[in-house]
Amino acid sequence: MPFDAGPPLLAAEGLTLQYKTRTSLVTATWRVDVAAGRGERVVLLGPSGCGKSSLLKCVGGFLPPVEGRVMLAGREVTAPGPDRMMVFQEFDQLLPWKTVRGNIEFPLIQARPGWSRRHIADKAALYMDKVGLSKFAESHPHQLSGGMKQRVAIARAMAMEPEILLMDEPFASLDALTRRRMQEELLQLWLDTRFTLLFVTHSIEEAIIIGSRIVVLSPHPGRVKAVLDSDFAADDALGPTHSQALQDEISAMLFSDRFENGSGI
Ligand SMILES: Nc1ncnc2c1ncn2[C@@H]1O[C@H](COP(=O)(O)OP(=O)(O)OP(=O)(O)O)[C@@H](O)[C@H]1O
Ligand SMILES: [Mg+2]
Repeated sequence: MPFDAGPPLLAAEGLTLQYKTRTSLVTATWRVDVAAGRGERVVLLGPSGCGKSSLLKCVGGFLPPVEGRVMLAGREVTAPGPDRMMVFQEFDQLLPWKTVRGNIEFPLIQARPGWSRRHIADKAALYMDKVGLSKFAESHPHQLSGGMKQRVAIARAMAMEPEILLMDEPFASLDALTRRRMQEELLQLWLDTRFTLLFVTHSIEEAIIIGSRIVVLSPHPGRVKAVLDSDFAADDALGPTHSQALQDEISAMLFSDRFENGSGI
């Protein structure tokens, strides 16, 4: 952990997550540990149904663990809070009747009662600028492309200056080119502000681009299969050869599951 020698900002320990339905009990994850130091970009990678979204919901405080606990900055997470902001895959996570500016300001008005309107407006303007949407401040969500809506959702989350940003496949619904651009923008934003990120994807390529560490999860119920250091991937000097080798290593890991368990990625 190159950023911080103390205890990690986020320490999720032994998380077993279950859903009770009327007819069954679904175990989504089994004793999963995830840690993130301040300023780290941790990616949860695994096949569909391995419990990635469930883990994010648990860290968000929306899903209590059956076993284990989530510690954030030394406090146990028991409920949602403004120190953990979530960005989802769906484009419709914005309030349709509010402008871009209004969408970014709204949670600040709710969660930061001590802040003046001026201060809130300045924060919103700063993060709108960071995601390149200043010109669209007065537009409504229906006037924006999918990529632009995701930028608003990211700016809204970042303007809260949370301890950790939680992203659940935020670029999965975008076309390939926009997705690539958004990944680069997110890394640029990270270089700018060094936020702590917990990012979910089932794309190996995206995990390597985004992550400084990748937690590979096995299929249903999700268990930690490996934790891989991937920070070199952002370093152009090490570049494509290392990144290809890591991609091959992860593919081999995930495909071995496929044969062991008869389930696909
Ligand atoms: N609300 C729910 N009620 C019952 N079962 C659920 C619920 N949400 C998720 N599950 C089950 O928990 C398991 C993990 O689901 P989860 O959504 O966390 O997986 P995921 O890794 O995010 O998958 P994907 O990549 O498809 O988004 C799955 O078997 C799923 O069917
Ligand atoms: Mg999911």
